[in-house]
Amino acid sequence: MTPTNRNGRNSINRRAALRGAAGLAAAAGFTPVRFAIGQTVSVKVGFLLPYSGTYAALGHNITEAFKLRVDERGGKLGGRPVDYVAVDDESDPGKAADNTNKLVTRDKVDVIVGTVHSGVQLGVSKVARDTNSLLIIPNAGVNAATGPLCGSGIFRSSFSNWQPGYPMGTVMTERGHKRAVTLTWKYAGGEEILGGFKEGYEKAGGKVVEELYLPFPNTEFQALLTKIADIKPDAVFVFFAGGGAVKFVKDYHAAGLRKSIPLYSTGFLTDGTLKAQGQAAEGLFTTLHYGDGLNTPKDNAFRSAFEARGKGEADVYAVQGYDAAQMLAAGLDAVKGDVGARGELVKGIEQATIDSPRGPFTIGKNHNPVQNIYLREVKNGKNIVVGVAAKALMDPGRGCKLA
Ligand code: PHB
Repeated sequence: MTPTNRNGRNSINRRAALRGAAGLAAAAGFTPVRFAIGQTVSVKVGFLLPYSGTYAALGHNITEAFKLRVDERGGKLGGRPVDYVAVDDESDPGKAADNTNKLVTRDKVDVIVGTVHSGVQLGVSKVARDTNSLLIIPNAGVNAATGPLCGSGIFRSSFSNWQPGYPMGTVMTERGHKRAVTLTWKYAGGEEILGGFKEGYEKAGGKVVEELYLPFPNTEFQALLTKIADIKPDAVFVFFAGGGAVKFVKDYHAAGLRKSIPLYSTGFLTDGTLKAQGQAAEGLFTTLHYGDGLNTPKDNAFRSAFEARGKGEADVYAVQGYDAAQMLAAGLDAVKGDVGARGELVKGIEQATIDSPRGPFTIGKNHNPVQNIYLREVKNGKNIVVGVAAKALMDPGRGCKLA
């Protein structure tokens, strides 16, 4: 687990010192240059991510890639050095509010970067709204975070749960699969990703004939695979990620279902997991906002730089962590590091075009990326991009009251 760093300087004292210095400058008759004095003080970033359990690898890649982007900028955002604090959220929704409050009240972070699990995100987003904290969500797709729980200081560098599954509806009907069974963990992440898929699939003329669930993060799939074999649908669409995705793909293959009942998913099933899944994943089609073989200068440079850090290969989670840092940089650069200039900082992020390894993206009115969703096929252990399933797809932002 990434160690929790508790040695950041006390922000209240830092702010008091800054106010004092600025006051002296003003009394001496200087026209204050924005935040020139404060630029030596660190910006404090609080990671709230899973560093244990089935999503541990996701949290690690987000953290590492965020730090990579900061390092590429000479360790600075908006001209200020960066300090980190990291808390393991354990993918436990019951601990979300307490953990977030700790970062806000005890650690006094300037920005929260979190999290991965949609159920945990609901708690994190509520505290961020209540405390008017700046929050960048580097994975969790829970629709409410850029819907009813959206906020002017809340941004997402990843996706909404509606986004990656919706375009798969057309892909599957065009491939002749008219009756599908869905299967996932019973929690907001799984339910909403399958919800996005179902909306697109039924609009395209398909029918979801059965929705199967198991509790998060359970991986006892056998009884459900037997049920699928009995139902005999044209295809199966699932959501699993991390450690659970490795086990599911292997179990589906071992059950001998791959030929008779084709398996589809969002790319979370096969991103960061292909090495462990091996042959069992070959030929799988998935949709996601990232993929292998994009072969753009930006993506190639990102992947080499990430791998050079010696902590593994880049994947979609690394991209989202890297882009969380790029979004924060856009905001902080716009105000030269003055986190107190919130309105302009927010505008700096809203107006940015993020030069992401996934391809450039803009930020929608509800603060969610407007981005391409790629169709990918697993070939020789890679998620090769074979098409664009939806171009510049914007989350509907249902229930978000931002202008
Ligand atoms: C989520 O809970 O929103 C979630 C978790 C892991 C993923 C994707 C979405 O890979």
